[in-house]
Amino acid sequence: MHQDFMPPGIVALTGAGISKESGIDTFRDKDGLWTRVTLEEVATIEAWHNDKKKVLDFYNDTRKSFRAAHIVPNAAHKALARLEQKYGGEVTVVTQNIDPLHEQAGSKRVIHMHGRDGESRCMNCGTVTVSDIDLTPQSVCPHCKAVGQLRPNIVWFGEMPMHVDEIDDVLERCGLFLAIGTSGEVYPAAGYVLQVRRSRPRVHTVELNLEPSVNRTLFHEHIYGPATLTVPAFVDRVLAYGWK
Ligand code: APR
Repeated sequence: MHQDFMPPGIVALTGAGISKESGIDTFRDKDGLWTRVTLEEVATIEAWHNDKKKVLDFYNDTRKSFRAAHIVPNAAHKALARLEQKYGGEVTVVTQNIDPLHEQAGSKRVIHMHGRDGESRCMNCGTVTVSDIDLTPQSVCPHCKAVGQLRPNIVWFGEMPMHVDEIDDVLERCGLFLAIGTSGEVYPAAGYVLQVRRSRPRVHTVELNLEPSVNRTLFHEHIYGPATLTVPAFVDRVLAYGWK
């Protein structure tokens, strides 16, 4: 009997660079967030224990800045959504970004490995709540009613990324791996290119970044330039000719 042919999966690992042209700062560029804010003071569990108000205010402000009217998906986000719609196989975006721009662009299969903006998690009972309300050190968990135990549902330095098994699964099925707008400095995301090359010897791996990333030598192909130009052109190429 004839079996339907399912083309190999495509995984796009995205980082802050894909949202830069939408008006969201990256972390490590010369105008990046970590040049203005000390990450140990806002992005660790120790920081939260030391000064909850400071950490919660920082993420309250971040959430509001993402909601600003001018922050909209750009041509790179839209191109990945188009790839998912038009390609005959599975296309998964694995993003390190907490912003909602992939979903707003129309991508359906999006895995937020560092959490997502607009969710809180109770450190007492673990319940995750979708909420756009500012968190304060007095906030009450809607589930267990603990006071002062709500934090943003975001992966801080020293914490385990989310959805790692699901990510391993999509990497296992992929024939094309893209890393878009990420510096390659933060693991485990920076190690996915090697992971996929070890488990899928025929995989094609492409780095699309403004400049060479730290792990550039691990990729088969390198495309440098702003994501709004490189990603749509690359998607056109894949949809027309594949990647070989
Ligand atoms: N188009 C493409 N790439 C760009 C653009 C652009 N317009 N602008 C900047 N870049 C590239 C930069 O050259 C840089 O290599 O995006 C990359 C962004 O790197 P980082 O700031 O390190 O961001 P990211 O890799 O997403 O960081 C990973 O680190 O601080 C943590 O949790 C945070 O998820 C984040 C993680």
